[in-house]
Amino acid sequence: MTDESSDSTAGDTPDGSGEPNAESAGYRTDGGAVDDVALDPWGSSTVSDYRKLFEQFGIEAFDQMVDRLDDPHYLMRRGVIFGHRNYRDVAAAMAEGEPFAALSGFMPTGDPHIGHKLVFDEIIWHQQQGGDAYALIADLEAHSARGLTWEEIDEHARDYILSLLALGFDPEDGRLYRQSTNREVQDLAFELGIEANFSELQAIYDFDGETDVSHMQSVVTQMADILYPQLDGPKPTVIPVGPDQDPHIRLSRDLAARVQYFGVTEAYASFEADDAERALIADAYDRLAERHPDETIRCSDAANLLEGEREPGATDVAATTLDSTITMLKEAGKEPLRPRVRIVDRNATEEAFEAFIEAVDGEKRVYDEHIDTFDLSREEAEALSREVAIDHGGYGFLAPTSIYHRFMTGLTGGKMSSSIPASHISLLDDPEDGYDKVKSATTGGRETAEEQRELGGEADECPVYELYAYLLAGDDDEFAKEVYDECVGGERLCGDCKEQAARLMEEFLEDHQEKRAEWEEHLDELDISFDVAEHR
Ligand code: TRP
Ligand code: SF4
Repeated sequence: MTDESSDSTAGDTPDGSGEPNAESAGYRTDGGAVDDVALDPWGSSTVSDYRKLFEQFGIEAFDQMVDRLDDPHYLMRRGVIFGHRNYRDVAAAMAEGEPFAALSGFMPTGDPHIGHKLVFDEIIWHQQQGGDAYALIADLEAHSARGLTWEEIDEHARDYILSLLALGFDPEDGRLYRQSTNREVQDLAFELGIEANFSELQAIYDFDGETDVSHMQSVVTQMADILYPQLDGPKPTVIPVGPDQDPHIRLSRDLAARVQYFGVTEAYASFEADDAERALIADAYDRLAERHPDETIRCSDAANLLEGEREPGATDVAATTLDSTITMLKEAGKEPLRPRVRIVDRNATEEAFEAFIEAVDGEKRVYDEHIDTFDLSREEAEALSREVAIDHGGYGFLAPTSIYHRFMTGLTGGKMSSSIPASHISLLDDPEDGYDKVKSATTGGRETAEEQRELGGEADECPVYELYAYLLAGDDDEFAKEVYDECVGGERLCGDCKEQAARLMEEFLEDHQEKRAEWEEHLDELDISFDVAEHR
């Protein structure tokens, strides 16, 4: 179990001032976990400290986002959704009534369980907020990376889709598909594969010479899944996943940029600088412009300024960057230093490049492989580059965004795992079995009732409390808080608490399975097929 305290979920402003929903902090959940932070989509990822994901991988804390949403989902309010990459794009679209999309995928390797329900709920919520919703069955991945037969895959695929529908996904308004039968996804995967090579997959996923080609193909297929909602035009897209999928998200964000016709950067002179060098030049420019507002500032002026600040003998990264910057500026000599927005030709056709030149208003300078513009903002240039690309047969992808939820703790402690039936509750479990599993779950209770009354239970370490927070309390924050407060206050004892949870679980499963049965009648009306095996 973890040693995190309940309010250390996300954000981690030490003084708590960044905590937007402080009143709810006490009952927020803090899933347990076991080992080190290693994000491996095909390994057994557990996360011992979610905070490390912010530092090590640049995942942003979700706390600040909760405030920006009109009506955040309870998984957001309770810190179960703890992190994101650039979700603000989606939040903004949602607030302004602009188009946006949500997509996630499921590997049909076993029964759908209450951990998958988190993702189902996330997709459904975004659909209800007006987004285009997509759910896909990652059958190619299950077949290649997990070795499942097509028969097994068909059966599980059907079960995932039934649960998704039973939980409220609207198939008329959203899109369901499986990787193997979606030709557009396959074609897009092929195109994206041109921009990714083996060394890169090796670095990201630890692939080696033994990795089969189909497994690698399943990676580019997932990249295509993630960008699929934008095939008919760019729109902010969120991919709700567990943090183990973050390597995929990062790659998809890179590929979305790499397949563009144009890249947009900022620059100060005709030469190319990297981000660190550009920051130095920007700073030098600002200072010189302030000192000499009416004069032309030249590259050599900036070189002199920076040279004066060079510490003799320094050899660290900062010093090397400073040196390379000074060298560039010196070489450019008398060339004026002027801020500009640069559009780089990445994959553009000749016509598209010409069309871009035409489309730029105001002062511009055209080079072989890039165009410098002096009157466009970066945002304007980006929007224009998408527009021109789409008009000329290119992609206009925005970088996909993501949200990350905590992994649920297994009912037996440790990791919730499909391969340990007692550790999870399948959405197909008999309601009575669900009841029994909750009754025999590990708790955060004390040795004796007496001790528990005195010290209170450890709700933050309790898989049963997690069940309340992640599922059983539903939208009812009061109820979740009551369970939490009563537990840590010593008023609630584990026997009764589990009985209550077990009954709620039983009811949930009964209701869920009734709805599944209703949907079963309508499965053949969907445009997703569950008899792929017959055709392989
Ligand atoms: N790789 C995901 C998993 O292991 C499944 C998946 C395939 C997926 N395509 C996706 C997830 C697109 C999110 C988005 O479960
Ligand atoms: Fe867990 Fe309930 Fe016991 Fe508290 S009282 S430790 S929430 S089972």
